[in-house]
Formats: sequence, structure tokens, C-alpha cells
Amino acid sequence: MSELQTRIQQLKKEKNAVILAHYYVHDEVQKVADYIGDSYYLSKVATTTDADVIVFCGVSFMGESAKILNPDKTVLMPDETADCPMAHMADPDRIEQLRKEYEDLAVVCYINSTAELKCYSDVCVTSANAMKIVRKLPNKNIFFIPDENLARYIAGKMPEKNFIFNDGFCHVHASITADQVRQAKKAKPNAEFLVHPECTTQVLELADYIGSTSGIIDYATKSDKKEFIIGTELGVLYELKEKNPDKTFYSAGSVQCCPNMKKITLEKIIHVMETGENEVHVSEKVRERANLPLERMLELAK
Ligand code: 13P
Ligand code: SF4
Repeated sequence: MSELQTRIQQLKKEKNAVILAHYYVHDEVQKVADYIGDSYYLSKVATTTDADVIVFCGVSFMGESAKILNPDKTVLMPDETADCPMAHMADPDRIEQLRKEYEDLAVVCYINSTAELKCYSDVCVTSANAMKIVRKLPNKNIFFIPDENLARYIAGKMPEKNFIFNDGFCHVHASITADQVRQAKKAKPNAEFLVHPECTTQVLELADYIGSTSGIIDYATKSDKKEFIIGTELGVLYELKEKNPDKTFYSAGSVQCCPNMKKITLEKIIHVMETGENEVHVSEKVRERANLPLERMLELAK
């Protein structure tokens, strides 16, 4: 074990802390984590841990959601500038306007969103549970924020509902083009293409499997196939290779890297654990309101 890893293990014991890490952070960060997973899994872990301190190795909306669901815990972010640009890509004024236009509107908020946007929403979803949850809603009219690509994917499976789209997107997934995927498939004709629903419709049309990061990992692990082209952030390769040392994984595009997730380092984890800096604070007013769609998600996803 390296010196940094040893120090982190000591600090976990001293502070009664757990480390949660999203699949997109650096391999060495995933290695020191107690729990690694997708956004849905990590939000559930945050509600069940009995640790006093949660160190969240991910982006702001993840730490914020953990704090909203667990107001009595201390949540620390190794880098507080690690933010997801898509989390800000919706406008509360438009939500209010649409609520006036459609009486039965459900505002469905992808968990990749700020606490403020969650306050204007009826239910949260993640890529792992969006389909199941939206299907359960009695509402016909759905305003899905902020991600347009995930919304279009779900809308395609539910013609009975009327979706209103918002123009938010993830720059990492949107940068993968259908041409790149076609080339990758041509170069590796035996490989299956596994893709995250934050990718564009044109890319999703080329998929053998569409799902969250956990879904992609599970699919590849259970599959008899030996080669896969991966259409998501390449941090997932760590877990894919751990679970499937006999299989080969290729990238679909060239820049499948989330610069914000990659801001998390072992040194920054140690720093916040030693100093208590970068604690997540959410005002009680925002917490109470933003908690409603998050709790509703956990309930409907069961
Ligand atoms: P999931 O964790 O739901 O797969 O979403 C990926 C993502 O973009 C998180 O930032
Ligand atoms: Fe946001 Fe995309 Fe990075 Fe996920 S991968 S945190 S959606 S920018």
C-alpha cells in the first residue's frame, strides 16, 4: 500500500468516515473507496451509512444530494470546484411557465442537477431508474430537466406520454459521434457497443445495450462476448477490467473524459479529511424542498 493510501485508511478510522466514489473518478481514487457505483447506488448508500463523515469523490450535485438525504452527516468534497456543467442547464422560470400551461405537468429532474433545480421538481431520477419512475407517474405531460438526450431516449419508449424537452446536455457524452462509433464498430466487428443514455439519439441508435454506468458494467460482466466498445466516460474501465480480466474494452470516441470527475486526487482526499474543509452546506429551506423529489425517487425506484 502506498503512503497516501495508508494515510487515508488511518483517517477513515480516526474520523469514522466512508469514501464514496463514482465510476468516473481516477483508478487510484476508486481503489481507496468503500463504495464505488453509479449515481443511484451512491445516493442509496448515502442514506444507509452509519459513518459520521461521507467523503464524496464525485461532482457537486452528488455531495449535495448526499447532504440533503443525510442532514446530520458531515459531507466533504475533495475538490469543491468539481462541478457538472449540465447540472445548471435548466431555467426555473421556464419550469414555472410550463406549470401554468399544463395542469398535470410532472417536472422530472435528472439527479445531475443543482439543489436549486431540485426545489422546482416533482421527482428525481438517475439514468438507472428513469424509465421505471417516469412510467409509474400518473401525469401525461412530462418536463424532463436538464438532459435532453436521456429525455429523448425515455420518451421514445413511452409514446403515451407527452414529453417537453430541455436543451441541457453532458459535454462528455455528447462529444461521442455516430461516425466515431461506426468506425470503431468497423475496426472491431465482433465487439458489442454499450452506451450511456446521455449520448445523442444518433449514437444510441447504434447500441447493442443502453444503460447507466452500473448497467454497462453488469451487462459486460454477464455477457458471453469478449469484446466491447464503451460509450461512456472511460473511468468505468477500472471496474470493467477488475471484473472481466479476460475481456477487451475499446473506447468509442477519443475524448471520453470528464475533467471535473478527474479533479479528485488522493492528496485532496487527505487534505479535506485532515482539515474538514469543503464541507457541503445546504440551507434548511432548500434541503426540505429538494429532499421531496429525492425521497420520491428512492420510493418509486424500489
Ligand atoms: P450514472 O452514474 O447514472 O451512470 O450517470 C453518469 C453520470 O454522468 C454521472 O455524472
Ligand atoms: Fe456531468 Fe457529464 Fe461529467 Fe457526468 S460525465 S459529471 S454528466 S459532465
